[in-house]
Amino acid sequence: MLYNKKIILGITGGIAAYKCAHLVRLLVKQGAQVKVILTPAASAFVTPQTLSVLSKNEVVVDFFDANFNWNNHVHLAEWADLLLIAPLTANTLAKMAGGACDNVLLATYLSAKTKCFVAPAMDLDMYKHPSVKRNLETLTKTGNIVIPAESGELASGLVGEGRMAEPENIVAFLNDHFSKSLPLSGKTALVNAGPTYEAIDPVRFIGNRSSGKMGIAIAETLAINGANVVLVLGPSNEKVKNSSIKIINVESSEQMYDAMLSNYANKDIVICSAAVADYKPAIVSETKIKKKSNSGDLLNLELIKTKDILSELGKQKQQQLLVGFALETNNLIEYAAEKVKSKNLDLIIANSAIEKGAGFGTDTNKITIIDKHNKISNFELKSKQEVAIDIVNYLIDLLNKK
Ligand code: CTP
Repeated sequence: MLYNKKIILGITGGIAAYKCAHLVRLLVKQGAQVKVILTPAASAFVTPQTLSVLSKNEVVVDFFDANFNWNNHVHLAEWADLLLIAPLTANTLAKMAGGACDNVLLATYLSAKTKCFVAPAMDLDMYKHPSVKRNLETLTKTGNIVIPAESGELASGLVGEGRMAEPENIVAFLNDHFSKSLPLSGKTALVNAGPTYEAIDPVRFIGNRSSGKMGIAIAETLAINGANVVLVLGPSNEKVKNSSIKIINVESSEQMYDAMLSNYANKDIVICSAAVADYKPAIVSETKIKKKSNSGDLLNLELIKTKDILSELGKQKQQQLLVGFALETNNLIEYAAEKVKSKNLDLIIANSAIEKGAGFGTDTNKITIIDKHNKISNFELKSKQEVAIDIVNYLIDLLNKK
């Protein structure tokens, strides 16, 4: 959920600030872009250098920092998708509630139109104090979201409520918040992508030129929109950036078949974008095939049909919205429309194997979506990321109409 989110982490001057190095790491690991602002008091607890290395961004402390223009707080506020203030001290809390602005963090807070999450941290009696309670209520009433403090041993030695939520819990809180507000929240998706390799002998295989880019872009777009995604990935050199996606690596069409069928039952959306081999060697040699074992110049390889994964999924279809791909060199729409019927699909994404900029190996694609009622939607030539957005938006519309 935090993948690609732009987060400003505001750190104020409490002992829990030392935990923010770990918090930054966790946020970055989730794929978030993080920029840190420290209040001057916070830099006594954690160094800007540490946070800068971990966030891979410059850290701002003061209006008068060498690289900071006085009005950069406005740009920071515009850049951010969300503001997270952790730990939030009683002092900064009071200033936020009162609208004070005597440091860069407060100026950024007042300029930001995005959601602001705060994770208070203070000592037991401070946290219970009526003024603190009133200020927290003021923040909540004005649209800020409080990540409740946790109970435990406090820096003073007292035991009770007031500890900043643990970094893992802050990340879980943010993930939970965003997963509930996305169009595919609560939906599960299964995608296959990439080529398959069909073994000839222990060192050789029959493969194809699929890169896996299109399917990976679809899986990532589904995840960004809140779906819980399982990706069955054939041998591909592409990286999957979104760490929330569960990846099952496979090599052969048989392994892909098993992985797709065993993960199919409870899914809402299933997209088969993989270039599955249609044929594989009928017999796989256990040892490397040697030239001298062959009498002439010709080597005959007997091929046998692989199982059609998509057809089998079509046969077993229940609640799933089942989407196939059709890669054709000719009669694109006619052949693709036939596959919608023969494989019992809800829709098919047709793309040409010969049109410039479409199909295998490129960073772009040009698709036509054909649904089971033969409604045809044409799209322009676009980057595979943009094509994935078109496909996922089409599916979101379809699910909303259900
Ligand atoms: N497909 C599959 N299992 C196979 C072959 C194809 O699941 N053994 C899926 C592909 O992932 C794609 C769809 O079927 O979503 C169409 O694949 P395509 O290669 O275009 O068509 P085929 O059904 O293989 O038929 P043909 O090659 O004759 O066009």
